[in-house]
Order: sequence, then structure tokens, then C-alpha cells
Amino acid sequence: MNPTGVSIRDFGGSQLRDLLHSVHLGGIANNSVELLSETLGPGGFRPLSNSPSWRSGVADDHTPFEFSTAFAVGEPAMVRVLVEPTAAEPSPAANMDAALDVLDSLAGRHGLPLDRFDAVRDLFLPSEPQGEFSLWFSLVFRADAKPVIKVYLNPEVRGRAEAPLLVGEGLARLGYGAGHATIVDHARRRGDLDRYSFFALDLTESSGARAKVYLSHQDATPDDAVVAASAAHGVDAETVRDFCLVAGGRSDPFTGRPLISSYTFLPGDVDRPSGYSLYLPVRSYVNDDSEARLRVLATLDQHLIDPTAFRSALGAVARRPLADGVGLIAHVSLRIGAPRPGVTVYLSSEAHSTASPRVATLVS
Ligand code: TRP
Repeated sequence: MNPTGVSIRDFGGSQLRDLLHSVHLGGIANNSVELLSETLGPGGFRPLSNSPSWRSGVADDHTPFEFSTAFAVGEPAMVRVLVEPTAAEPSPAANMDAALDVLDSLAGRHGLPLDRFDAVRDLFLPSEPQGEFSLWFSLVFRADAKPVIKVYLNPEVRGRAEAPLLVGEGLARLGYGAGHATIVDHARRRGDLDRYSFFALDLTESSGARAKVYLSHQDATPDDAVVAASAAHGVDAETVRDFCLVAGGRSDPFTGRPLISSYTFLPGDVDRPSGYSLYLPVRSYVNDDSEARLRVLATLDQHLIDPTAFRSALGAVARRPLADGVGLIAHVSLRIGAPRPGVTVYLSSEAHSTASPRVATLVS
């Protein structure tokens, strides 16, 4: 147990504040911290604990939020938080209700357009949700702009077998129906090894509003990732091979945590998406976070991105020496194609616990 009794929301809020300050976004810290608190739902008032009452899938230690920092050449860093709202008495159905309450109040206060969410909600929010979660949010913070709020829905919420139907129908309702076959051909070639993991929507005005589909690829090779990337139009799919090598440190199959693809559909996309991202769970392929940090720096260098903001962000979130654990740097992702290419680094709060470093094994 945590002797100080600090709540999840206060802990997350102070980390977010430090992170925003570290990348020169201190001016929006107060509003951003308030938004995070609200999005955590009633469960955010619980004190931190080594055995949390809801084992959130957002982070390995079950903290219900995770930070990320998005970098692109010549652009200021963006800070984001992925959040699972939870109920006072968490359960799959109670958390879904808590998340819908959060959405109602955010929509009211921030004037969020819910038309596209409403178009698909009956698919993804059944009365008895199955699987790991039903509704997560992402809050995107940028200087001089209102935060962007995104929702993540679970394609397996009616069971794994229903996932392709839900995603196909969801895309069709948003006008991207013809894109589903393209995704299936490129990213669902290996049966059950390729699973639908998220269906995401931006709650912004439709002109730039995106829909994203995520698939995880168990035991995938860099070649599989290149094929997955080539579904998006106008991208150089080969760049993901170098990314696997530099960020993942290997050209062998990724047999630990899976590589994940996401496809971005933008208005005007007809039969294929215009953006692709590859998420590499670097924490499964390093011994500790000091090694993960080097992988991130090499990746930023490969893409000509100034590492200053990443260094500051990491310093702001870490509360321990990097070599003393693994998983603080959870994923590294590469975005190619529209709307803008770049690298994103996912930083765990470690609010509940830290995973011990792996010991490099000496093969005799
Ligand atoms: N923790 C989950 C995972 O690692 C979900 C998740 C959190 C995730 N942040 C992510 C998945 C970033 C992909 C990218 O799969």
C-alpha cells in the first residue's frame, strides 16, 4: 500500500504538470491537469495501491493512464495522455457507465461533436461488455490550441469472433467501408495472430476528423510490418523495416509483446487509409530503460528529430534511475503518411509499480 494516501488523480496530475513544463507547455498545465482529473472518473479518487482494484490494461502496472510525447521535424512536441475512466466500484459495465458520464460532461463543457461517435456506439457499447475495456480516452495537449479528445473503442467487446464485423460496419458507417478489405489484405493475413485491438475516433469537427483502426501482430517479422504499412497510400513502407532494426534492435520476429499497426482514415479516403503507424513495444526487447532510451535516441536521430524535448520529457516522468527498471518507455511508434510523419514515445507513469530490469543471460 501507498503510505501517503495520494490519489491516482493527484499523482497523475502532478506528473502531467511536470511533463508539460518540461516541453514548454507549462502555460496550459492547469487546464490540462483538470481535464485529466475529470477523465479519470470517480475511480481517480482512489489512493494509489500496489494491488489496484481495477487492473487497467492501459499500462503494465495497471495505472489507468499513460503519457506520450509526439515529435515531428521542426514542430513543437505534443503531449498526450491515454486514460481509462473507472467507476468507484469498478467492473466492466460500471466502468463503461463511468466513461459515458465522463463523455457527457466533456461534450457539454467543450462542445464536442458526437455525431460520429453516436453513429457507431451501439456496435461497440453493448450492455454486457466483454474483453479488457470498453471506452478509453486520449487527451492531446498543444500550445495555443484547445485539447483534442479522442475515444478508443474495443473491437472485441462482443467477443473476439465479432471483431471483424464490428470494425467493418463501423468503418462503413463513417464512410470508409471500402477501406476495410485493404486492411484485411495487408494486416490480417495470419489468422488469429493478427487481432483487432482498437477502433478510435477524434471528437473534432468532421473536416479533419479521423478514424483509426489498430491491429496487433503476434510473432510478426519486419517483413510483415512492411506489408502492413503498404496498405496506406503514398507511403514508403520500407521505412518501417529500418525502424524495427533501430527501435527494436532486431530483424528477427517480435515474439515478445506484439507489434501493433494503426491505419488512419481521413475525409476523402475511399478504399485505403492515408496514414499508417507502427507501434513497437520496446520494453519487451530491452533489458532496462537506459537501453530503451538509447533506442529512442537512435530512432529520433534516424528521422532527423531534435532529441532535446524527448530528453526533458523523460527526465520529467522518471522518478528512478533508468537502469533500475524496465517499462517506463513502453512503446515507440513511427508515423508515416498523412496527417504528418513523426515519432511518438509512450511513457508509463509507474504509479503503482516498476518492473525489475531483465538480466542479460549469458549463454554458455
Ligand atoms: N498497454 C496496452 C498495450 O501495450 C495498451 C496500450 C497503451 C497501447 N498504450 C499503447 C497499445 C500504445 C499501443 C500503443 O498494448
